[in-house]
Amino acid sequence: MRIRSWAEPYKIKMVEHLKMTTPEERATAIQDAGHNTFLLRSRDVYIDLLTDSGTTAMSDRQWAAMMLGDEAYAGSENYYKLEEAVHKYYGYKHLIPTHQGRGAENLLSQIAIKQGDFVPGNMYFTTTRLHQELCGGTFVDVICDEAHDPTSLFEFKGNVDLNKMQALIDKVGADKIPYLSLETNVNMAGGQPCSMANIKAVSELCHKHKIPVFLDATRAVENSYFIKTLEDGYADKTIAEILFEICSYTDGCTMSAKKDSLVNIGGFLALNDEKLAEKARNLVVVYEGLHTYGGMAGRDMEALAIGIGESVGYDHIRARIGQVEYLGEQLIEAGVPIIRPIGGHGIFIDAARFLPHLPRDQFPAQALAAALYVDSGVRAMERGAVSAGRDPETGENRYPNLELVRLTIPRRVYTQAHMDVTAESVVHLFEHPERVSGLKMNYEPEYLRFFQARFDPVNGKSVLAPE
Ligand code: F0G
Repeated sequence: MRIRSWAEPYKIKMVEHLKMTTPEERATAIQDAGHNTFLLRSRDVYIDLLTDSGTTAMSDRQWAAMMLGDEAYAGSENYYKLEEAVHKYYGYKHLIPTHQGRGAENLLSQIAIKQGDFVPGNMYFTTTRLHQELCGGTFVDVICDEAHDPTSLFEFKGNVDLNKMQALIDKVGADKIPYLSLETNVNMAGGQPCSMANIKAVSELCHKHKIPVFLDATRAVENSYFIKTLEDGYADKTIAEILFEICSYTDGCTMSAKKDSLVNIGGFLALNDEKLAEKARNLVVVYEGLHTYGGMAGRDMEALAIGIGESVGYDHIRARIGQVEYLGEQLIEAGVPIIRPIGGHGIFIDAARFLPHLPRDQFPAQALAAALYVDSGVRAMERGAVSAGRDPETGENRYPNLELVRLTIPRRVYTQAHMDVTAESVVHLFEHPERVSGLKMNYEPEYLRFFQARFDPVNGKSVLAPE
């Protein structure tokens, strides 16, 4: 039987107007923003593909739920509703809400990591690694080699390389490894999934050595979709069943609910160990708020509880990933070098291959993101050397293999026509890549520099030469 097209499993009830700008206006705006798309004002952006974080359109049921906010300082009803949802879909015993993902990462790092520890993970994420380092830990990348190769077509590039993990245990000893940080649908690798077989095997290896496994569950639902569609034995399982099984192999999770869970703000730490939960519950009051709200308003917790339930719907996730594929396939057809297979939350352009005339120290991905904005008002994000920051030991720039521009698709926000306009702009730049100038950094913040760094074009003129 012919495979039928997907379409969005919703219709639009309210619209938000977008401002159309001219190339001249955008050239001024990107200059004022120091050629950093994080520093643009959103009113100057046409199609905002900066991130899929907190940019979701909530459903009418979620908006209605906002009116059920029980804004009590302690013991809000919404907390118990959220606890029930996390328990039902993720399975963990204890819930500690936080204002967003990095709040949970801070708590987990503080309660588990000691000075001199090593924290293995399947590729770094910016905030996750920083919290590990701030607690005296050293991040060790144990992702499979394919993840670092933008041309590899391996289906499960998020997988942990068990040999790398074993080698770390042999080298430093299990007692120096407080936990393994296991990310689902690995963001920095291009939204690439782990297989269930790998998650299970990693969990067995770690648990044999009494090393806990903590999931970064931020995009575990998207990972579940890939397991359902790609891995033997999962085609007939529901997304909810697959998500629950992933979590069952792990000891807890940190969660940025701003992604999978379809809300604009929120997150949590969830875990099974009573003693660790007690520590986290004590620490959350220092950094976030009481343990029954953790920085979220009651109404936010209510919307989140509903968002979790909506996130595991098959039609939702199929359309979500279908839209990402729709954009990716247009770029592949035009020969644009992107990370393949197409991942879950966005399209990652290989800026090093897109702009071969630019050396890495001129930040090709940063330059391409700025040029794309000037061309069409589409806002993307750098995920390359600027994001990777400096080595804390040597102070040298880190140059990861992947020098990427991320076109991140917000959930339930844009239409296929927005994807068409985006693809046309990327393809247009790809026809004359030499129009894009390299950049030099003229301001570098100490932490997570990509958010606030500023740049100038090396040609002293503009990042995108006129046609
Ligand atoms: N883990 C992953 C895999 C993430 O992608 C993010 C955020 C976090 C943790 C931190 O969560 O932002 O709620 O504090 N990623 C966003 C992005 C910022 O654009 O990729 P947060």
